[in-house]
Amino acid sequence: MTTAATDPAARPHPTRFRMSAREMAATGINAAMKRAYGDDGYLLIEDFADAADCDALMARAGELVGDFTPAEVASIFSTTSRAHVRDDYFAGSGDRIRFFFEEDAFDADGSLKQAKALSINKIGHALHDLDPVFDGFSRAPALARLAGDIGLADPLLLQSMYIFKQPKIGGEVVCHQDSTFLTTDPLSVVGFWFALEDATLDNGCLWALPGRHRDPIRQRFHRQDGAMVTDTLDPAPWPAEDAVPLEANKGTLILLHGQLPHLSGPNTSPVSRQAYTLHVIDGACRYLDDNWLRRGPGMPLRGF
Ligand code: FE2
Repeated sequence: MTTAATDPAARPHPTRFRMSAREMAATGINAAMKRAYGDDGYLLIEDFADAADCDALMARAGELVGDFTPAEVASIFSTTSRAHVRDDYFAGSGDRIRFFFEEDAFDADGSLKQAKALSINKIGHALHDLDPVFDGFSRAPALARLAGDIGLADPLLLQSMYIFKQPKIGGEVVCHQDSTFLTTDPLSVVGFWFALEDATLDNGCLWALPGRHRDPIRQRFHRQDGAMVTDTLDPAPWPAEDAVPLEANKGTLILLHGQLPHLSGPNTSPVSRQAYTLHVIDGACRYLDDNWLRRGPGMPLRGF
């Protein structure tokens, strides 16, 4: 007998599984999870991270924000700032911990319009190497096991982001493929997306286009002659009507294939939707020289 659990075509989206990090470290992913990831290009694993671990990351992010002085970047994010100034701040963040503010967070005088903790869009992009709390979370044995189980021969932790998705002002993220931004030859990036708080339709959960991870990348964002450029390889829009919401309770891990188109809506709710993401590439693949994300020679990429 074929049931929804065994027939991929009949399986409702999103495909949900439940496995703790402890169990993952011991057993790895099971056949159904591996099949779902292959079919859909994502895997939703509920109860993966302990609530205490989510709380620890949120507390640490709060400390980092608390210790940060907005005046350091007010000129970069001011409304009069030129695009290349913001580009330079972004371009130099591959081996740093930098703070990125919401659009229009500062007024013309360089003062924040609202509380600092409510003005930050994200922190990036080397939390996993530079901060002990994020390092420990990111290099958990369960993630090493999972990365190996989905075929990464030599996993390297390339990029980390702490995303706040602030109440009422957290903006949408348009449909994209992560391999557009982090490109190896052959393509290899995988996203590990952790819900640190419940992600719902109201506060801007992820959405994805199941199965479209088989499509080539349609855009490539990279460095060219000192600037950041986006090459459009295929101008066809993604079929937004095919997207499915990936609502995720606190502690859920969503694994995202690097070619899977995904997006998130604006946060229209009164609560934040904080998430931590880690992007891992395969060291067996060539990391293209013109990727936006670069590191200095003193900080080579490391694995788990
Ligand atoms: Fe993404």
